[in-house]
Amino acid sequence: MAIKNVGVVGGGLMGSGIAQTAAQSGYNVLLAEVNQELLDKGMQRVHGAWEMLANKGKITEAQAEEYRGRIRGTLDMQEFADRDLVIEAIIENLDEKRTLFRTLDGIVQSGAILASNTSSLPIIEMAAVTNRQERVAGIHFFNPAPVMKLVEIVLTIATSDETVNDLRAFAQSLGKTPIVAKDTAGFVVNFLLIPYMLSAIRMYENGLATMEDIDTGMKLGCGYPMGPFELLDYVGLDTTLYAAEAIYKEYPDPAYAPPTLLRRMVQAGRYGKKNGKGFYAGAEK
Ligand code: CAA
Ligand code: NAD
Repeated sequence: MAIKNVGVVGGGLMGSGIAQTAAQSGYNVLLAEVNQELLDKGMQRVHGAWEMLANKGKITEAQAEEYRGRIRGTLDMQEFADRDLVIEAIIENLDEKRTLFRTLDGIVQSGAILASNTSSLPIIEMAAVTNRQERVAGIHFFNPAPVMKLVEIVLTIATSDETVNDLRAFAQSLGKTPIVAKDTAGFVVNFLLIPYMLSAIRMYENGLATMEDIDTGMKLGCGYPMGPFELLDYVGLDTTLYAAEAIYKEYPDPAYAPPTLLRRMVQAGRYGKKNGKGFYAGAEK
């Protein structure tokens, strides 16, 4: 099917980046949030990125204007009726996602694809509350979505080949490289990345090295662009905790168990870069 109208639900770190990328690639984009303040924040993030790219001379002012004309924010989910593809990028909570999928299934035209950007939760649990299981899949972008080249397409036991092909073509049209993963917790990348970040927290908890030295070690020793603590702050400590819990639920192996310090950080409201409080802003050294 030809995808023209894209809906993105959730205008946080990921949703705003996905909406930006889709609008830049020629799609008509509708972005939804829970209230006006958060919608404004998400739209400002998108407009701010285009302003930054225009200031750097990477896009012209005319292009920025054209992109701005292709994205609109809304608080009214009924406006999603004409979408060909809806990408869910709300918080990493299965109950919230299932409620949203049920709502979307009742509103969005039949035949349209409902996709989740979840980091780790089972896609089939979202598909199961809809009457279009074959048109539900994961489409997992990486942070920052406009920059990172990978998209994981996650197929459940019910996802149709047509849906996978449509999503593969969509990802390629955004300039991304798709890989296909089965619907198991963490898919490909987070199944490897999350235990790596959890190990770094345990290493620090056990007093084996400072956060700074662990980060320097991985950057200079392995050529990673960010150390694990910088990446934790960047990804969001809340999102990392919820993703770790989801993987641990499916694979109850100590390697996937969230360390106490991560839990305490989230309980203390330290979510990382998104609210200015993370390992590098206020954590005990
Ligand atoms: N739109 C378009 N381009 C953008 C952009 C945006 N919103 N934001 C930044 N860019 C561009 C910049 O213009 C810049 O381009 P040039 O180099 O051509 O000037 C480029 O991206 C890099 O940006 P910066 O110069 O600001 O920053 P940097 O060079 O320090 O790189 C980074 C930043 C890309 C984030 C890099 O540090 C990096 O790759 N970090 C690792 C990120 C990572 O591992 N992400 C995966 C997280 S895990 C995940 O996402 C999965 C999950 O489920 C949790
Ligand atoms: P975030 O906390 O930055 O943003 C989530 C947004 O969703 C919030 O602004 C919230 O108000 C909004 N929201 C919640 N319920 C909603 C609803 N019913 N309708 C509309 N909006 C709603 O989180 P994020 O980092 O953008 O993560 C979003 C999703 O993407 C999660 O599933 C996460 O696991 C996944 N993900 C995150 C990353 C990352 O690095 N942060 C990378 C890939 C995937």
